[in-house]
Amino acid sequence: MTNASPITFRPARADDALCLGLLSTQVFLDTYAPYGIRPALAREALANHSVACYAALLADPGNTILVAECDGHLVALSVVHDGVGDAALPTQAAAKLEHLYVQDPFTGRGVGRDLLRHAEKAAAARGAEMLWLTAWVGNARALRFYPRCGYEDLGETMYTFEGESHANRVFGKRVRHVAPA
Ligand SMILES: CC(C)(COP(=O)(O)OP(=O)(O)OC[C@H]1O[C@@H](n2cnc3c(N)ncnc32)[C@H](O)[C@@H]1OP(=O)(O)O)[C@@H](O)C(=O)NCCC(=O)NCCS
Repeated sequence: MTNASPITFRPARADDALCLGLLSTQVFLDTYAPYGIRPALAREALANHSVACYAALLADPGNTILVAECDGHLVALSVVHDGVGDAALPTQAAAKLEHLYVQDPFTGRGVGRDLLRHAEKAAAARGAEMLWLTAWVGNARALRFYPRCGYEDLGETMYTFEGESHANRVFGKRVRHVAPA
């Protein structure tokens, strides 16, 4: 069943931490734990996607957190951190897209693309020349999605957690003059 109600976008508020933490955990596990849960993944989920994490992210003025809502429910979130660069980028006036998470029933209908556009506008308004991110090489949907949204593949980086190293692609897009969603 697909909810056909309109999707709206807005900045997250402090009282969204509860739903953000649960939505983030759900999408993280759907994406990275398709074969079940093991301790390293469970710890990673608790360390980076808990309600407490989102309360802390919301309290940090360096973050821009946006949400998509449908019928009073959060269905997607984006987290952008200002002033985070990387050697692979052509400019260091960059902001990093830490998360772009759409709940599975709402994927494939433009929510991710529109939320990303809002995140790009917000990053540009806060002075970023470029928005960048890393995507796991096993995440085929993300590897297809970002180039379609105008992102250039800038090379490989490794993401290490719990003693495991995973190859990621670095994607970046110049975000000055991005048209409104
Ligand atoms: C990757 C992700 C953010 C993309 O978000 P999304 O909302 O599914 O993306 P969109 O709907 O904007 O675009 C996805 C596809 O739907 C198509 N689409 C967009 N609007 C559409 C519409 N109105 N009707 C039909 N199809 C549509 C797009 O052409 C695109 O096709 P593609 O998969 O062949 O590239 C989302 O799938 C997600 O959250 N995945 C899990 C978490 C994750 O991997 N996050 C990224 C980590 S780097």
